[in-house]
Amino acid sequence: MLVDAAIKARLNAYAPYSNYSVGAALLLSDGSIVTGCNVENASFGLTICAERAAVCAAVASGKRTIYACVVATADGGAPCGACRQVLSEFHDDDHAMEVVSVTSAGRTVMKTWLRELLPNGFGFGGRTF
Ligand code: THU
Repeated sequence: MLVDAAIKARLNAYAPYSNYSVGAALLLSDGSIVTGCNVENASFGLTICAERAAVCAAVASGKRTIYACVVATADGGAPCGACRQVLSEFHDDDHAMEVVSVTSAGRTVMKTWLRELLPNGFGFGGRTF
C-alpha cells in the first residue's frame, strides 16, 4: 500500500527543471499514510524534496511519528542527506524507521533502516538513534 501511494504521489511531482519526479509515502504510527512529491522552483535552491514535503504534510495533520518511508523515482534513487536528517527528527526511539526506494514500476531497489542511512545524525545533546 505504501509503495502504491508513493508511486501515485510521484505522478503529482512538479519537476519541470530536472524532469526527475519523486513521490514519497510515510507510514505513521497511527497506521495512516501521508504522501508528498517534489516541488521545484525557477529559483532552483527553493526546491523541496518529496520526502520533506511528506514530512511537512504529516506534521501539519498532527502526526509526528514515522515508522516507514517509501520513495518512488524512475531509477529507484535513495533519499538525499537533507531528507534523511529531516526524517530522523520524527523517528520513534522504540520503532526503527524503515526506508525503501522503489522504481516507478514498483521494483524495490533498496530496503534498509534510517539509522543505516544516517549514522550519527545530528541531534541536540548528542542525541542519536
Ligand atoms: N529530490 C527529491 O525529491 N528527493 C530526494 O531525496 C532527492 C532529490 C528531488 C529534488 C529535485 O526536484 C529533483 O529530485 C532532482 O534533484
